[in-house]
Amino acid sequence: MLDVTDLYVGYYKDLHILQGVSINAADAKITTVLGANGVGKSTLLKAIYGFLQPASGKVQLDDQSLIGVPTHKRIDMGISYIPQQSSVFQYMTVEENLELGAWTFRGDRARIERKLEENYERFPQLRERRKSKAGELSGGMQRMVEVGRTLMTDPTVILVDEPTAGLAKLLSQEVYQMLVNLRDDDGITIVLVDQEIRQALKIADYVYVLELGRNRFEGPVEEFTDLEKALWV
Ligand SMILES: Nc1ncnc2c1ncn2[C@@H]1O[C@H](COP(=O)(O)OP(=O)(O)OP(=O)(O)O)[C@@H](O)[C@H]1O
Ligand SMILES: [Mg+2]
Repeated sequence: MLDVTDLYVGYYKDLHILQGVSINAADAKITTVLGANGVGKSTLLKAIYGFLQPASGKVQLDDQSLIGVPTHKRIDMGISYIPQQSSVFQYMTVEENLELGAWTFRGDRARIERKLEENYERFPQLRERRKSKAGELSGGMQRMVEVGRTLMTDPTVILVDEPTAGLAKLLSQEVYQMLVNLRDDDGITIVLVDQEIRQALKIADYVYVLELGRNRFEGPVEEFTDLEKALWV
């Protein structure tokens, strides 16, 4: 279980974007974080991943503190991150992109081959296109490459930031289905930041709504059937 408690973090000293945010992401569930543009959703994920150092507060994975733990160690501990902006390298092949996910164990060729094979079994389309430049793939398949790259490190937690931004509806549904499968088939804990409120609520188990760097609402997804509550943003 991933626990964030009373987190203060920002990009400049003494200017805290998050001012006491707390979230708890239960194992093998999808925890969704909603909120208007600029409230600090991406900042929260960056702090959990270790790209930003909190001024105060706690980030814990299974009761182990992550404060001060560098990102590559967090990856070894099972945390992975798919950022808001596409992180696919357009001019590299699908396979090269996947291999980038293995940088923390880059000397271990056997493990890399094993993880690639697992990815190709999971996503046969990626095997077919493994020699294609990633930039030639559809937006949905590029998301698949990012998910595949993330799976190279055997994550137990995936932090995913607006995974369907800019995608057509049908492709979006495939991406959400991918997240559901990771939860249901692989038992992966997912923290999903999203602007697609309706879609996110369809797959979420538990929901947080942030407001300007603070918690506003939280509850099991059933309490959010009243879209007004989620859409106040
Ligand atoms: N690299 C940065 N340097 C300085 N300020 C930043 C940086 N990134 C974001 N901010 C500021 O931090 C605040 C929160 O940004 P953040 O990206 O976390 O919001 P968000 O909730 O993810 O928004 P969106 O829904 O638009 O993605 C905003 O005021 C933003 O301008
Ligand atoms: Mg964002």
